[in-house]
Amino acid sequence: MTSHPVNQIFSFNGLSIEFHGSVYEPAEDTFQLLEAIKITPKETVLEIGTGCGIIALDLARQGCSVVCTDINPYAIELTHRNIERNRHLLKGHIDVRLGDLFSPVQKDERFSVMVFNPPYLPTKKKDRIGGDGWFDVATDGGLTGLSVTKRFIQELPRYLSSDGRAYFVFSSLSDRDILNQYLKKINAQAEVVLSRCFHDELIDIYRITL
Ligand SMILES: C[S@@+](CC[C@H](N)C(=O)[O-])C[C@H]1O[C@@H](n2cnc3c(N)ncnc32)[C@H](O)[C@@H]1O
Repeated sequence: MTSHPVNQIFSFNGLSIEFHGSVYEPAEDTFQLLEAIKITPKETVLEIGTGCGIIALDLARQGCSVVCTDINPYAIELTHRNIERNRHLLKGHIDVRLGDLFSPVQKDERFSVMVFNPPYLPTKKKDRIGGDGWFDVATDGGLTGLSVTKRFIQELPRYLSSDGRAYFVFSSLSDRDILNQYLKKINAQAEVVLSRCFHDELIDIYRITL
């Protein structure tokens, strides 16, 4: 059996969460999103871009059944390890899947809650950090900051149950008018449910229904 070197671990709501150098470390946006999500136990949740899995784990701890995805294979491995580390605390099941946005989701799957803390920073080629590239994948929202959010909004109606809701993070560094156009195209009712200022940036948590 190969043993895995244990990285830095921190504690959140009783969960032990391991970090990894190639996976997004939970930050203010993560915790603000978690604070904004209102769920009841047994709901079905899809979390896109789970990173270390902290949001999926916290929702499963509260009894939700969660599917979580990430495009970063290190995030998928790390989330599996964090599930094992916290298995005794989880009341709901977590299914972890590798892939781009909704591609790992079956055509007939529907969720009552969707969650995404997307890469949202407006980024030019010269702003990219480089390295192994996974930090950029976690933060780079293209020139508008909305390139991944746009695809999420376009595709979510297919997988959201009729009375469902989706939560996602938006930064004031991106263009709100463009976001509103994307939301209008899918006829979404949108509401900012939690807003916080960090230095010169406003982070909003949107809750949308269809
Ligand atoms: C800002 S991090 C959020 C991580 C974690 N959910 C949190 O809040 O701490 C964005 C995550 O989305 C993932 N991601 C970026 N583009 C993606 C895509 N097209 N499909 C799936 N996951 C993606 C990144 O690998 C990263 O883990």
